[in-house]
Amino acid sequence: MVNRLILGDNLEILKMMTSESVDLIYLDPPFFSNRNYEVIWGDAGEVRSFQDRWAGGIDHYIAWLKERVIEMHRVLKSTGSIFLHCDWHADAYIRVEILDKIFGMNHLINQFVWKRSSNRSSISKAARKNYDTVFFYSKSGQYTFNLHFMELSKASKDLYKNEDEKGYYQTVPLLVSGKRNGETGMTWKGIDPNKQGKEGMHWITTPDKLDEYEKEGLVYFPKNGTTPRLKYYLEQSPGAPLSEIWDDIRLVQGKEVIGYPTQKPFALLERIIKCASNEGDIVLDPFMGGGTTLAVADKLDRKWIGIDQSVQAVKVTELRLNQQTDLFTSLYANSYTLQLHKYDYDTLRDRDAFEFENWIVGQFGGTANIRQRGDLGLDGRMPDNTPVQVKHSENIGRNVVDNFKSAIERYDKKLFEKNIAAGTPAGYIIAFSFGRGAVQEVARLKNQENIIIELVPVDTIIPVSKKPTIRIEVNELSREASGIREIEFIASAQSKAGIEFYSWDFEYNAEKGFRASVIIDKEGRQRAKLKAGQHNIAVKVVDNDGLESIEVIKLKVNGTVERE
Ligand SMILES: C[S@@+](CC[C@H](N)C(=O)[O-])C[C@H]1O[C@@H](n2cnc3c(N)ncnc32)[C@H](O)[C@@H]1O
Repeated sequence: MVNRLILGDNLEILKMMTSESVDLIYLDPPFFSNRNYEVIWGDAGEVRSFQDRWAGGIDHYIAWLKERVIEMHRVLKSTGSIFLHCDWHADAYIRVEILDKIFGMNHLINQFVWKRSSNRSSISKAARKNYDTVFFYSKSGQYTFNLHFMELSKASKDLYKNEDEKGYYQTVPLLVSGKRNGETGMTWKGIDPNKQGKEGMHWITTPDKLDEYEKEGLVYFPKNGTTPRLKYYLEQSPGAPLSEIWDDIRLVQGKEVIGYPTQKPFALLERIIKCASNEGDIVLDPFMGGGTTLAVADKLDRKWIGIDQSVQAVKVTELRLNQQTDLFTSLYANSYTLQLHKYDYDTLRDRDAFEFENWIVGQFGGTANIRQRGDLGLDGRMPDNTPVQVKHSENIGRNVVDNFKSAIERYDKKLFEKNIAAGTPAGYIIAFSFGRGAVQEVARLKNQENIIIELVPVDTIIPVSKKPTIRIEVNELSREASGIREIEFIASAQSKAGIEFYSWDFEYNAEKGFRASVIIDKEGRQRAKLKAGQHNIAVKVVDNDGLESIEVIKLKVNGTVERE
């Protein structure tokens, strides 16, 4: 499965990605602005990245970004392209020092200017800075570009100044220069095109077709008797072919607003992704933020990979993907994998045992056995063939060790004896935890029979943590005459890693899943006005490792407020 949401420093993640595997990269890295507002999420991952970039001036920033763009260039397919979004703080340096050097000057396709329509900056002694730059480079000269049309400017719309029952139109010539002998050179309405002007003219189509145009009322006959023209309606116009100045995309607004300052508009990403990729292509955003690129890619049936160093960014993106239906009425989100720094203990325990065994053997560096007769219940082997057994449970007892010992002895006696002679492990048992009996038996085998069986707890192979726990207090604040109650909800959660944020769904429906009404709430306090009836309110808590829990409160509001 390609769709992936990954928590981590993009440099490390990119280094693990396969070369030439991505069709399009859009990146909106933190700008070089030395402002605290650059820190948008405020969690440990992001602050670390901020300090990283700020260890020293523009040279340091460019070096920081450049090593990442080198990896992006590597993971792009030869037909792929990159869109790098930046602004005046560093755009010149980025073009010359990074993109021209890595992609080559000749692979700059376009330098787009996104004129942000709203203008919040207030520089009094100079003109306002109100645009961002988006560089478009291809990896080779071969790249995808689907022509896109922008809305017509006011000046262009004004050209459609005539009006009839079909709408506004302008007229375009029916006769164009160049002599022709065929049908388009024939006389129509008594006008011989070859006798028009020095070089002669011809009709844009055949006389039959011109008759049809006339019947449909599409021919305009000027009152002064000059040559008839064709009516071209505003509605027929696809718009203006894409140019490098984008002044028709407004800042994020309305329902689209998630509530963090650098969120880019859906329409901006829609334009980029439509232009530079096709359905089924893989789109990567290594500075994903709140996931605009992923949301658009998903909607447009592209596959996607998003990386961010902030837990909050990853979780907000996840929430956003899962609730897109409410925002843009489309099918979201295609299934995806979420990669955090820690694995959730409960999820691992709930996983199908066979699937878990195969997966953990791989994580341990071995190869899982495709179950066949004759493998004696062993689950895999290491590269040197030493057997591995996995128990998808806790507190493994002595009998497991004894059974394993006889199985490995029977399975490959030569290998078993070789390991004993070399003093190397004769086998590994992986489990969530081991009981005293198992530990003692392993020690006995080693001391008395020179057989080394290693007991491997799962959390020594992969980092495992427990989900946060959560408690909710419900207080009735007031009651209106209409029966509406104002209710306060106070969530308090515990996690070793620390709590990152809470999200609320005030119309929770288990079938639809969690759809946040409030995406980010740092305090865990909300108020809601509830009518009489049954209400299901869900609160999600996310900790600093990205692990989460959901608690659903069922409230019956009637004469009283009752919590089930
Ligand atoms: C300007 S925001 C991106 C906003 C995004 N385009 C959107 O529309 O939501 C930049 C993001 O880069 C992330 N970031 C910064 N340094 C990073 C790094 N080294 N690896 C991964 N993500 C990083 C930040 O956490 C932040 O979410």
